[in-house]
Amino acid sequence: MNAPFLTLALPDATATDRLGATLAPHLGAGDTVLLDGQIGAGKTHFARALIQSRLAALGRIEDVPSPTFTLVQVYDGSPEIWHSDLYRLGHPDDVLELGLEDAFDEAICLVEWPDRLGDLAPDAALLMQFSLSEQGAARSVAFSGPAKWQERLQKILTQEGWI
Ligand SMILES: Nc1ncnc2c1ncn2[C@@H]1O[C@H](COP(=O)(O)OP(=O)(O)OP(=O)(O)O)[C@@H](O)[C@H]1O
Ligand SMILES: [Mg+2]
Repeated sequence: MNAPFLTLALPDATATDRLGATLAPHLGAGDTVLLDGQIGAGKTHFARALIQSRLAALGRIEDVPSPTFTLVQVYDGSPEIWHSDLYRLGHPDDVLELGLEDAFDEAICLVEWPDRLGDLAPDAALLMQFSLSEQGAARSVAFSGPAKWQERLQKILTQEGWI
């Protein structure tokens, strides 16, 4: 993956919620967002905020549990949203069994522990790397990915006053 093209501070969990809600309406079928970062970095928190924001736009209020043990949670819609946590994945080939390859083409996919994908990670994906600060609870997130994503994000984040 390329070097990050942008980094945002996330001083508290509310900021992570806001970022999820900011990106939510801009994602569509075939968009994959890889959520990287150590345990507790805020990957699930971000994914939950994004998914709940999309569901709320459809008038739906649903629990968004961490896919820690199920590996994948799928949310109905057009497109569907696939939220996965691959921490416990045994082998990259298991990704095929989960059906993730087709989902990468057809759904919105949010993937925690994307290093487990090996070569199966889509080239067109946006990578968000969450980091914990050395002191305190704050987080930051660094974005990387293809030029197309850089352009899209710059537009979205400018429009929403993040940058
Ligand atoms: N910007 C933030 N500032 C402070 N705390 C945050 C921030 N974003 C998320 N958190 C909190 O961090 C905690 C851990 O987050 P989360 O469960 O999302 O981690 P994770 O990256 O998914 O970890 P895992 O690898 O175990 O799945 C949660 O309590 C969440 O509310
Ligand atoms: Mg998680």
